[in-house]
Amino acid sequence: MKFYITTPLYYVNDKPHIGHSYTTVAADALARFRRMSGDDVFFLTGTDEHGQKMLEAARNREMLPRQLADINSEVFKGLWKDLGISYDRFIRTTEPRHEEVVRKVFAKLLENGDLYRGEYRGYYCTPCEAYVQPGDESECVCPDCKRKVNEISEPSYLLNISRYRERLAKHISESSFVKPDFRKNEVLNMLAGMPDLCVTRKNVDWGIPSPTPEGYNIYVWIDALLNYLSGIGYLSDNALFEKYWPANVQFIGKDIIKFHDIIWPVILLALGLPLPGKIFAHGWWTVGKDKMSKSKGNAIDPRSLMEEYGRDPFRFFLLREVPFGLDGEYSEESFKKRYNSDLVNDFGNLVNRSLNLIETRMGGVIPDRSPSEELAGLTARTFDAYSRKMDEVAFSEAIEEAWKLVVHLNKFLDSSAPWREECLNREQVLYDVMYGIRNVLLMMSPFIPSSVLAMWKMLAFPASPEEEGFDLLKKKLDGGIRTNRREIIFARKK
Ligand code: MSP
Repeated sequence: MKFYITTPLYYVNDKPHIGHSYTTVAADALARFRRMSGDDVFFLTGTDEHGQKMLEAARNREMLPRQLADINSEVFKGLWKDLGISYDRFIRTTEPRHEEVVRKVFAKLLENGDLYRGEYRGYYCTPCEAYVQPGDESECVCPDCKRKVNEISEPSYLLNISRYRERLAKHISESSFVKPDFRKNEVLNMLAGMPDLCVTRKNVDWGIPSPTPEGYNIYVWIDALLNYLSGIGYLSDNALFEKYWPANVQFIGKDIIKFHDIIWPVILLALGLPLPGKIFAHGWWTVGKDKMSKSKGNAIDPRSLMEEYGRDPFRFFLLREVPFGLDGEYSEESFKKRYNSDLVNDFGNLVNRSLNLIETRMGGVIPDRSPSEELAGLTARTFDAYSRKMDEVAFSEAIEEAWKLVVHLNKFLDSSAPWREECLNREQVLYDVMYGIRNVLLMMSPFIPSSVLAMWKMLAFPASPEEEGFDLLKKKLDGGIRTNRREIIFARKK
């Protein structure tokens, strides 16, 4: 099966923090899981480079917006490389081929009467790049981010949301388009009160020119959303587009629900395209009670954590610590605790002591047996539960399921004590443990791919978890292999 997955495009007015890494790591874990399940995956990510916020950020740095975009899109790319993100395409909204699609779509919407000429009088929140109506006029702050808004009044083109309101409401009610489920009512209410949307900016000089005579630029959100189409060849590479559209899952943060659950499907309905399977909104990382953000000055740099702990513990923490969909409070203590208890004590220790036993008791060769019925049964049940959770995008629960096997294997080692002379079935015990470890490694590979690969090589299992995929779970482990030098993959942190 094909599987098309996307992240939002990140603004390049500043450098990435933990929140940005979160969406991307989540999408990467799911993409890896689907590939290991045998799917043909297309994973799209990239950067959102136009708009007023970019223009202002560049001015503040005395740069041209294009220069700032060039620098910061490379920073995002570099971080994704270091985090092991397996995207298939990184799109920048300043690429000419994207710009062309945006202009063509705009022209088509205009032709079909989905856009009409009008005027906008109201407020604009530059940090959110959003038209907003502050509740309390005397306050003049954005209802979402609580920052100061600007009053604007300008002629504009508007997207006729009213035209699609009922159809979309029906679709939202009857499908799993809006995820998690608890967001459905919120989105339906938002849709009910959503006015038609301005899709041009008159005085923002950094954007894609609209194909109309007035010299407006296209509103940055319309430009950015269309990346999900242009990124897989809409209007340029039909075969690619037909193969992958519609997206199976689109990951977003809860702050951009309005754009993805309402404006985006309206555009698609207007274009006559099928809607994505799921738009899944995750929660926020907070510091104390505040959303982590650069402008609040409370952002945690992913690099510092990666330098201290390594890339995989960082990936693991993000997806294990907080149920996907809910908010989570970040603290270094919780990071360290999670690292020491799960990765060092449970998982790393299991691999380390098992390999040590193979070295000292088996002359470094994994015995060749067949897995005990009990363990084979437990593996099958664990994988079943794990994949169900992955299908539900419940990452932390999927890891919990795999962990049941880790915990079982540690207990099994303790109770059978194959280091004792009296242990009569040492070969079977150690074979079983190795078989169990192989299966845990397969399930953990989407989350911590490089550590798993290092362990896989250390144990001299054939090929790699990603080449083998989950089909391997159905097969026995062929023993008789000589293991490699033991190394500590997760060292305890004080
Ligand atoms: N450029 C738009 C998206 C356009 S998509 C067509 C945008 N960019 S962003 O850089 O501000 O945010 C991108 C993603 O990072 C969002 O999904 C957002 O929720 C996520 N995060 C930014 N800060 C976050 C936290 N503190 N916690 C979790 N994720 C957050 O919006």
